[in-house]
Amino acid sequence: MACASARHQRPAERAGAELEWMQAAEPIIRLEGLEKRYDLGGEAEVRALRGVNLVVNPGSYVAIMGASGSGKSTLLNLIGCLDRPTSGHYFLGGTDVSRMPDDELSEARGARIGFIFQSYNLIAQLTVIENIQVPLLYQGKDLVAYRDRCVKLASLVGLSERLHHRPSQLSGGQQQRVAIARSLVNDPLLILADEPTGNLDSRTGQEVLELIDTLNAQGKTIVLVTHDERIATRAHRVLHMRDGLVEREVVNRPEPGRIHGVFA
Ligand SMILES: Nc1ncnc2c1ncn2[C@@H]1O[C@H](COP(=O)(O)OP(=O)(O)OP(=O)(O)O)[C@@H](O)[C@H]1O
Ligand SMILES: [Mg+2]
Repeated sequence: MACASARHQRPAERAGAELEWMQAAEPIIRLEGLEKRYDLGGEAEVRALRGVNLVVNPGSYVAIMGASGSGKSTLLNLIGCLDRPTSGHYFLGGTDVSRMPDDELSEARGARIGFIFQSYNLIAQLTVIENIQVPLLYQGKDLVAYRDRCVKLASLVGLSERLHHRPSQLSGGQQQRVAIARSLVNDPLLILADEPTGNLDSRTGQEVLELIDTLNAQGKTIVLVTHDERIATRAHRVLHMRDGLVEREVVNRPEPGRIHGVFA
């Protein structure tokens, strides 16, 4: 894997970057005037995000709601460094990643961000344990050294007895739990979930949400997109999006590192 070997050539640089990322006083996410336009050819374009400003502190649990097409997934993908803004700035842990070259951006993503998608996005040919290992491959890490960690993560999500099953041999809830274990394999600071219970029945969805609550209680920052008002109440704060903007914020309960009061 070409990009993995390139990473191996720059250990000192990476160690420096690691320190830079750990600026404790910085919000984990700071968005300033973030815009995303999709060019549809000719004069046509979609303004999916029209200048989003947002600060998320480490340890917060933020839910994003809004009508279909309001820009929720676009915003989550930008926060997840899966895509780049057309204009505006994104500071991830204090570092501006808005214009970062592709290899550095994917490195930042792989090292610090875990994803959980509505459709699980598991690889059909791989077993549970192999699917959990996938982000390690992208990071060019030694799978043998991380095997115990992957087994522990499978156990954390209740899948110790299913290590060698393939996704088609699992229920939807079990597949989503594999995806959660996979999202944790690089010990990310930030977990992004786009309608993670959208394909699950309510009881299984509840289990997945409880797992996400536990991760937040352990200090992980969570940003979760949902259409369900009840799910959103689990978050510290709910952002309501409309036409590519955060139209309003509702605070459910105090969140870590955020001052609530007269001057907040
Ligand atoms: N790759 C793309 N090319 C062109 N337009 C896009 C693209 N991706 C999203 N859009 C448009 O950007 C807008 C925001 O889309 P987005 O997927 O962020 O909405 P959403 O709030 O996640 O909706 P949903 O609740 O249906 O998932 C929509 O008008 C959509 O059609
Ligand atoms: Mg969406």
